[in-house]
Amino acid sequence: MAVDVILGLQWGDEGKGKIVDYLATKYDIVARFQGGPNAGHTLKFDGKKFVLHTVPSGIFRPNLINVIGNGVVIDPITLKKEIDNLDDANVNYEGRLLVSRKAHLILPTHRYLDAASEAAKGSEKIGSTLKGIGPTYMDKTGRNGIRVGDTFAPDFKTNYDKLRAKHLGLVKLFPEIEFDLEAEEAKWFSSLETLKALPMVDGEYYINDAINAGKKILAEGAQGSMLDIDFGTYPYVTSSNTVTAGVCNGLGIAPSQIGEVIGITKAYCTRVGGGPFPTELDGEVGEFLRQEGGEFGATTGRPRRCGWIDLPQLKYTIMLNGVTQLVLTKIDILNKFESIGVGTAYQYNGETSDRLPYDICTVDIDPVYENHKGWMSSLEDITNFDDLPTEAKAYVHTIETALKVPITMVSTGPERKKLILKEASGVLS
Ligand code: GDP
Ligand code: IMO
Ligand code: MG
Repeated sequence: MAVDVILGLQWGDEGKGKIVDYLATKYDIVARFQGGPNAGHTLKFDGKKFVLHTVPSGIFRPNLINVIGNGVVIDPITLKKEIDNLDDANVNYEGRLLVSRKAHLILPTHRYLDAASEAAKGSEKIGSTLKGIGPTYMDKTGRNGIRVGDTFAPDFKTNYDKLRAKHLGLVKLFPEIEFDLEAEEAKWFSSLETLKALPMVDGEYYINDAINAGKKILAEGAQGSMLDIDFGTYPYVTSSNTVTAGVCNGLGIAPSQIGEVIGITKAYCTRVGGGPFPTELDGEVGEFLRQEGGEFGATTGRPRRCGWIDLPQLKYTIMLNGVTQLVLTKIDILNKFESIGVGTAYQYNGETSDRLPYDICTVDIDPVYENHKGWMSSLEDITNFDDLPTEAKAYVHTIETALKVPITMVSTGPERKKLILKEASGVLS
């Protein structure tokens, strides 16, 4: 069981980037298995901040190999920007950033279609990041897509033009929007050269050879389980499988290779974009959480919706993913709350349940809350779990007891080192 997994258990932005960066030194390879530049993973260390969209979060750890897996969709423009940032920061990624030939490409016209289709949805819009994710995965499953490896073939430009023409036909179905296709294409083709200069691999062979050679691999999830195309709050989801099962498809490994599944949850909850959010706080408390938590998107800068932690929701995603250990992030954001809510059950259709209803997008859910006494003090400089304020320890215990999965790490700040290791686990020891 050579492949451990880190993924988000809520609606994204749980702090995956920080935890992957922290744990990466225990591994030989970090691999992204799904999603694309809709992701924004923030890393902070030595007073520097980086936001990664396509590049795996192990890139700042010397010697470690980073693989962009076949399940990822790549926009060469975003990737080039990320690589330029690595160059500016003098990060040596040569020979350490590998791309699966089977990863699909996001074309400028995919972004054009994404924007036009969202504009047409009006108040029903998904709140997509407009990075072209939906249209690219549609072309992948519709068997029209262009893969990274295809860019080396002699008929690449012909196939590009064919797909572009199809997209321009489709775009006419939507209201007109502004999109400077010529300028975007010029950028895209020049950025493509940067992508093509990276080492290409047959990812499935590469990863399985590594497993057979005894290497340890960390699969880095993007988005969160509630945004999964099958199990999320459909249609307010992304277009890939964000759950553990997606690791097998997105890297080409067998389920039997999956070891630890490390699920990340904030100590509260956020979501960006449209769709249901049962424990959302609309008023002052929600606004206070947003300000304290700096809850503005790492990719789009949009304000994130905020609310209390939701145990039925977490039980659901723990079940879907087979989570073996939990990481609780951003607990420091609750430092100034006298009382902290914990959603313990849902009331809907006259019943109380801890299961998510099929019609979660339309049914009226009234969550049941337990209130916890806040600790009203800073967690700065606390490095041992036992030194946390009693109320903070009680809060952590409540969550792990209800979820029946051990919390092995508690994150108390955005910096790499702000992490309390709660108990020894297979990963940490
Ligand atoms: P990701 O998409 O899951 O990697 O998460 P994002 O990077 O989009 O959002 C998480 C935000 O919270 C980033 O700004 C991180 O720097 C920050 N962050 C992560 N862990 C903590 C923490 O424990 N405390 C605080 N205050 N900020 C954190
Ligand atoms: P990370 O990896 C939070 C949301 C969008 C929108 C929906 C569909 O940083 O946690 P898409 O662009 O995929 O068509 O958008 O999914 N979304 C995210 N929300 N974090 C993310 O990634 C997200 N990626 C997509 O806001 O509601
Ligand atoms: Mg993010």
